[in-house]
Amino acid sequence: MRLLIAGGAGYLGSVLIPKLLERSYKVDVVDLFWFGNHLPRQVGVLNKDIFHLTVEDLEPYSQVLFLAGLSNDPMAEYSPSKNFIFNAAAPAYLGYIAKLAKVKRYIYASSCSVYGYTENDLYDESRPVSSSYPYGISKLQGEQAVTQLVDDGFSVISLRKGTISGYSPRMRLDLIVNTMFKTAMRDRSITVNNPSIWRPILSIEDASTAYIRAIEANEGISGVFNIASGNHTVGEVADLVRSAIRERLDVRVSLELKHVQDFRNYKVSVEKAANVLSFHPTGSVKSIIGNLIDSMDKFNDWDNPAYSNIQMFI
Ligand SMILES: NC(=O)c1ccc[n+]([C@@H]2O[C@H](COP(=O)([O-])OP(=O)(O)OC[C@H]3O[C@@H](n4cnc5c(N)ncnc54)[C@H](O)[C@@H]3O)[C@@H](O)[C@H]2O)c1
Repeated sequence: MRLLIAGGAGYLGSVLIPKLLERSYKVDVVDLFWFGNHLPRQVGVLNKDIFHLTVEDLEPYSQVLFLAGLSNDPMAEYSPSKNFIFNAAAPAYLGYIAKLAKVKRYIYASSCSVYGYTENDLYDESRPVSSSYPYGISKLQGEQAVTQLVDDGFSVISLRKGTISGYSPRMRLDLIVNTMFKTAMRDRSITVNNPSIWRPILSIEDASTAYIRAIEANEGISGVFNIASGNHTVGEVADLVRSAIRERLDVRVSLELKHVQDFRNYKVSVEKAANVLSFHPTGSVKSIIGNLIDSMDKFNDWDNPAYSNIQMFI
């Protein structure tokens, strides 16, 4: 089976793609390579913008994955106009031409940030979404656009992921657990901006598994799925990071608590993904820290701008 992965050279794609190659998929990537190319040599590369793809370009593929766009709030807020073009229009265009090219399935990288500020209830996919900030709105627009393309011959699966963390050859240190790990190792301290808000945390291993389950799901399956390894308050995440570091490295890390208002607070149920996609997460904050420690010598130039999306973008 031949797959085209838009944005496949990013943080998630750089971990997912070697796993797909191991399973004998043929993989091509279309990417602007904002953060370089850390992909295995066997991957076919189209160095271009999604908007320059044509229907003919997509005809060889059975499935198309969208992992592109501006992938966090700081980028989206720095350039709301680019955010809406790359996060809402690009997945809609790609889904539209994929369907015309008779691709069988389209998999869209959605985000739990579509939930916005919720009242501490566990949210499943049937609950209302209400983000009020550019990144969350655009991820929802992308999801809605591609969802309405579903028909008997065209499956669309949207994975609303929690915040991913763990090591990737295209490293990011601007993601919750990764950032805490960076400051814990660099400064022996973690700053928590608001300990009481909830976030679904997703290990990069579980995130990759979710995509594999989606690719391999029965062809009649379409839908929107929450994907997370676990729900935690940010204060708890910091405690789990500290205790995992203490256990593995015998290093003590202090905490600095602040009470900055946050417009994102949500926890999600992954029951639908378990029931429909057979997605059963095995990751945890502890396993993410273990994974980061194992590869730490590859990214311990902590302040390298390449590890921060917003620093590379501006
Ligand atoms: N990382 C997370 O915690 C997380 C959580 C939820 C959802 N997501 C979503 O998952 C996807 C992947 O996230 P990531 O962390 O791997 O992102 P990333 O920023 O590391 O990579 C994005 C890639 O997309 C490419 N790209 C962007 N716009 C493009 C365009 N128009 N044409 C071609 N290539 C383009 C960039 O060059 C980059 O290689 C994103 O859509 C993101 O919004 C990420």
